[in-house]
This record gives sequence, C-alpha cells and structure tokens, in this order.
Amino acid sequence: MADLDDLREGSKFNTDIAVQNQAFHIKGASHLGWGMKDRLTRIFNAKTGKAVMLAFDHGFIMGPTSGLERIDLTITPLMEYADCLMCSRGILQTSVPANINKPICLRADAGSTILTELNDNVVIDIEDAVRMNVSAMAVMLAIGDPKMEAKTVANLYHAANQGAKYGIPVMGVTAVGKEMARDARYFGLASRVAAENGANIVKTYYCDGFSNVVAACPVPVVIAGGKKLPELEALDLCYRAINDGAAGVDMGRNVFQSESPIAMIQAVHAVVHEGLDPHKAFEMFNDLKK
Ligand code: R5P
Repeated sequence: MADLDDLREGSKFNTDIAVQNQAFHIKGASHLGWGMKDRLTRIFNAKTGKAVMLAFDHGFIMGPTSGLERIDLTITPLMEYADCLMCSRGILQTSVPANINKPICLRADAGSTILTELNDNVVIDIEDAVRMNVSAMAVMLAIGDPKMEAKTVANLYHAANQGAKYGIPVMGVTAVGKEMARDARYFGLASRVAAENGANIVKTYYCDGFSNVVAACPVPVVIAGGKKLPELEALDLCYRAINDGAAGVDMGRNVFQSESPIAMIQAVHAVVHEGLDPHKAFEMFNDLKK
C-alpha cells in the first residue's frame, strides 16, 4: 500500500476550464479505439501526418531479389531512417533487431511466388501478429482478378475483423494484375474497396489523376515505389504523390536498389515530411552520397 503519510487532498480542479477534446491527425481514424490510434500514430508522424515506410517484404514472393540478398548488410543500416518497417514474419524474426524500436507493418498474407499464378493466399494468425507486437498488418487485394478477387477481399475482411479485436490496423495492398489498367479509375476502385472492407491504410500506386484516388479513399493512402527509377524520377514521384494528398510512401526498390540507399531514404524523408522540391531533394541525395 502507498505511504499515506502527508497525503494531500487535490485542490486544482479548474472547474471553469472545459476539457479540451483534440482532433486526431489520421484520416478516417477518429472513431477508432486507443490501441489502433496509438499504433497508427507510431507509423504516421503526429506533426506531419506522413510516413516513410521501408518495404523489404519482396522476398516472400520473389526470393532473394537484388538488394535483399543480405538483409543484415543492406537493410539494417537503413532502418533508423524509416518511420516504419514492412516485412514478412520470417525476416522480422531473423533479421530485424528486436531493440530497433520501430513500428512494424507485417506482411500478413502468404501463399504465392513469382513462379506461379497468384494463388490462394492465406492470412497469418492474429496471435502471431500480437506476439510480434506489430503496428499494422498488410494484406493484398487482387481487385479485377476473376480467380482471386473474392478470396483476397475475404482475406482482407477477415484480417480487419481480427485486427479490430486487438487494436491492430490493417493495410490493404492493391495488387496490379497483368491485365489491369494502371489508371485512377482502377486504383480508385481498388483503394475504395480496400477501405470499405475495413482497411485502415491503403497502399497503391501513383497515377495521373491520383488526387481523385486519395479524395475518394476515406483512410490514408501511401504509394509503393514500383520498379527502380533514376533517383531524381523516384523523388519526383514521391513529391507528386505527396502533393496530390498521399500520406506517405511504402517504398522498397527505389531505396534499397539505389546507388546510395542511405542517402536516398533521407532524401525521400525530406520530400515526404518537409515537402522538399524533388530537385533540392536530388541535390541532398548527391551531397549525402559523397
Ligand atoms: C508489394 O506487394 C510488395 O510487397 C512491396 O512491398 C511493394 O511493392 C513496395 O515495394 P516497391 O517500392 O519496391 O514496389
């Protein structure tokens, strides 16, 4: 029992000052519970509302792709510059230091490789996500794929139900099929479907008319980087996405396949959080890589 000696009665109740209700900074999250909000805030900076997520989950489907052969050598040095780390559970458990203290967006579905057609991806058990203390779970959606659309929407729906029980947000990852048009109509539809089925964050691709994709999506949208581009083009992509309303990037190859990944992630960070013009960000990249 606490020491009761000199116990002082409270006196500063300030009954003339109304309780301050603060608006929550993340789109579509005002009505979520505290655990969800806390995890989302670990990802999206409370001052800028933005996030640089470093994606290195590619191996779960591609194997040891370029830049990811040795996570310990190429990705570990980048972790301190990222706001969030996105990876599979195998890489998390073997290669991400547990004392890194960065939010994790766990690749939570699995089942396909690049050697076959998209097949029956399954979602990991929520207990696994809880055990690993992740801040979000990423689940892929194959909208427009006649074989996989229903299965992947059901996966996302299921993950959102499980996440809601434990306060873990879900990121819907919109896949791009070979047959799909990469335009605002398609990405707008896929993003909206993800949010309507319970995604708290949507990851999609930048396209012309991207501001309409963002406007019609009731949760934050982050962009994937896609295939490796020259650094100035990748920084310009980030800049345009942020200008059009993206809440950040979830970028992989354009960072870890860069000639200087540490310089690149810092330049991306400046574009996302400070709105740095892509030419200035490219200068920053060149200065940092020296
Ligand atoms: C997509 O499903 C993958 O999981 C990657 O996380 C995503 O494509 C982002 O990486 P990149 O910027 O290399 O496209």
